[in-house]
Amino acid sequence: MRYFYKNRSNDFYSSQVIDNPLVWIVVTFSLFVVTAWLQLNGVSINGLTLEINILSGCVFVGLLSYQLYQAKRHLEKFSRIVDYLLNYSLVEALDTAILNSRSAAAMTNKSYRVLPKIWLWYEKNSSALECHIKIQKLAGSYESDLDHVAELVSSTVGDHFEVISKSIDKSGSWFEITCGLVNENLRFIPKTIADFKVKPHEIKLMNNLTIPMNKLPHMAIFGSTGSRKTTVLLTILAEVINNFDESGEACCYFVDGKGEFKPLKTFYPVDHFATEPNEVITLLRKLLVISKRREKIINNEVKKRGVMGLTACDIGLSPIYVFIDEYASVKARFSKPKELETLMLQSLMTFRSFGIYILYSSQSPSTQVLSNQMRSQFSTYLLLSSANEDTQRMVFDQVATTGTVPIGSGYYLEKTAEMSTPQRFEVPDTHKYKLNTLTVLREIYLKGRKTSGTRLRRRKIQIK
Ligand SMILES: Nc1ncnc2c1ncn2[C@@H]1O[C@H](COP(=O)(O)OP(=O)(O)O)[C@@H](O)[C@H]1O
Ligand SMILES: [Mg+2]
Repeated sequence: MRYFYKNRSNDFYSSQVIDNPLVWIVVTFSLFVVTAWLQLNGVSINGLTLEINILSGCVFVGLLSYQLYQAKRHLEKFSRIVDYLLNYSLVEALDTAILNSRSAAAMTNKSYRVLPKIWLWYEKNSSALECHIKIQKLAGSYESDLDHVAELVSSTVGDHFEVISKSIDKSGSWFEITCGLVNENLRFIPKTIADFKVKPHEIKLMNNLTIPMNKLPHMAIFGSTGSRKTTVLLTILAEVINNFDESGEACCYFVDGKGEFKPLKTFYPVDHFATEPNEVITLLRKLLVISKRREKIINNEVKKRGVMGLTACDIGLSPIYVFIDEYASVKARFSKPKELETLMLQSLMTFRSFGIYILYSSQSPSTQVLSNQMRSQFSTYLLLSSANEDTQRMVFDQVATTGTVPIGSGYYLEKTAEMSTPQRFEVPDTHKYKLNTLTVLREIYLKGRKTSGTRLRRRKIQIK
């Protein structure tokens, strides 16, 4: 541990030079060199040159050996000492973060603060760079402080690194935190409106992840407040808002628990939005009617072509997207949610065959919000930001990670034979190039309306 003292003139804390063992190592070594030189040149300091020389030499060796022993003990390899010294600025940044944190120690008005010793080194683990940090667990800090320490590290290591694991070592006296590089290359960062363009019945979520909704219908997004669930939905909306169905109707519908899609009403048909219970019921019923209509169209096409198992996508029907944001809030408005639940289950089970896809978001995956039967109807599951192991099990039936997941990241699982474990997910970033505005959505929608009008006219002429 190290001591930091409060400055007299202000509230800042700083360490004292004499507390630093490195200073004493340099001082004793200098004294040893100087007295050795004096001894060789026959200069005497009260006849004690040799004694001072031997004493400073011994103290120097003793201090250095002790420091090397400590470094070897905690860093395990001598080669990591260079890493530690080269990256000492990160240790200092962590010191500042700990000093600034509002811990119990910070609340007591003492003239000094005791800070834990910090060791760190970088290492390549299967070609990915990792930063290992060991922070001393001082007396008075508990296992529950691990999360707090991990958060401090997470906010200090910068944008390129994130905490991937945290634990307490076997002796119980060190917090061990490992940070890995953030997968920034995977994050979908559209630069222009053209980057939102996707094929019909597909949505793009990451640079290497496009979901074929016709094969994997319905998606559920879970995550605490601020974990960017709505951001994911809005990115998908920018990709699909240019769609119009066979009767020329706009293709997106909104069941909006928190009113976050409300501003779209300035240009999007208002009867596509529902918040109040009666609106939600009407909307779901309307969608069930559309799915019945589509069923007829598909059946006719099956008869005409003599091919079994045709889907809406196969016969060129546009996809219809139903955005259900914050379902728990929607449900909470119902005094008797039974009717909503029945309609939701019916929708989830029938829509999938007719190109109507539900994009669902909720904070909690608990069965009190959505029954197991309904939850199993989704083909893709997303869990954003950090979540405890119980929540992860509820979403994926398994634990994806025991580490902290930063905001803007998460895990996803597709119900396919190839994907048995949850994979890392990075939330698209539409903010970087300012494509997160209402104007952008309006522009894409209006462009889509123009082209769909021409397409419909052409179709009608063909029919004639
Ligand atoms: N790439 C980004 N950069 C900065 N802020 C962002 C970015 N993406 C989303 N946000 C902001 O993060 C906040 C929380 O996101 P939101 O999607 O509303 O979370 P949730 O719906 O899970 O509560 C919003 O204010 C949003 O504008
Ligand atoms: Mg939201």
